[in-house]
Amino acid sequence: MKARRLGPVVGLGTWNTFGGNTGLAREVVDEAFAYGTRLVDSSPMYGGAEASLGSALSGRREQAIVATKIWSGSVAAGQEHFRRQVEWFGRIEVEQVHNLVSWREHLPWLEEERAAGRIGQLGVTHYEASAFGELETALRTGRFQTLQVPLNPLERECEERLLPLASELGVAVIVMRPLAEGALLRRPPSAEQLKPLRELGVTSWTQALLKWALSDARVDVVIPATRDPEHARANAAAGEPPWFGPDERRLVERLAG
Ligand SMILES: NC(=O)c1ccc[n+]([C@@H]2O[C@H](COP(=O)([O-])OP(=O)(O)OC[C@H]3O[C@@H](n4cnc5c(N)ncnc54)[C@H](OP(=O)(O)O)[C@@H]3O)[C@@H](O)[C@H]2O)c1
Repeated sequence: MKARRLGPVVGLGTWNTFGGNTGLAREVVDEAFAYGTRLVDSSPMYGGAEASLGSALSGRREQAIVATKIWSGSVAAGQEHFRRQVEWFGRIEVEQVHNLVSWREHLPWLEEERAAGRIGQLGVTHYEASAFGELETALRTGRFQTLQVPLNPLERECEERLLPLASELGVAVIVMRPLAEGALLRRPPSAEQLKPLRELGVTSWTQALLKWALSDARVDVVIPATRDPEHARANAAAGEPPWFGPDERRLVERLAG
């Protein structure tokens, strides 16, 4: 699979997927890793997913790029949760402040953990366009190395200011909701409508959507979430070039309509 600054370009989201089910977590991660996925994204908000992910990574932890989050209004509770993350993962490659919660308060201790080597990069995330102004403020501090935002043909607000800013600052971009939480998959286009994309290696509408996001060179990794090992395999296949040009991107936007 093609790799950018955060490793292979198709990662794995874990919201609303295997939760605390360690057996299912292993099945999904086995399949995703077999097809080249390496970045896994989680959060304390995802109902036990961090612990089951930690268990699913045992024996191959060094291959994984763990992106997870601190989601806490207080520094003490954030630090306590971080202690558990270190037990599950050893080290966190990308530690993100979830939904910007208390980001100014968390930054100093997160930077200390980074200096001590327990964190690789620091990031910020938000899922709502109304918070993008504050995401900009956070990025302009120069203290975050990654940004996580939604991007799909129905949610493009980050293209206006955040993606240009991330480019300017050298901040790596993680795309959440590349399939619009599944909403874009409910009425998939026909095989005939997807025909122009077939010669670019696209075999499904899901792959077309993932390639649509990855065809923006400012994007480093997409993190489609799935509880289905077969879906994890199919999604990983979208991580191979060629990428779309303007015509193919417009076609996907029209079909997503
Ligand atoms: N949504 C948010 O607000 C939010 C916020 C912060 C971070 N994130 C992060 O971003 C990740 C991705 O976003 P998301 O989970 O909201 O939405 P998403 O990845 O856009 O969509 C997930 C949905 O797509 C389905 N799906 C995935 N691959 C498929 C395939 N090959 N074929 C058919 N269906 C497929 C999944 O169902 P199956 O399980 O049946 O495959 C699931 O219902 C999250 O898991 C999380 O790590 C999300």
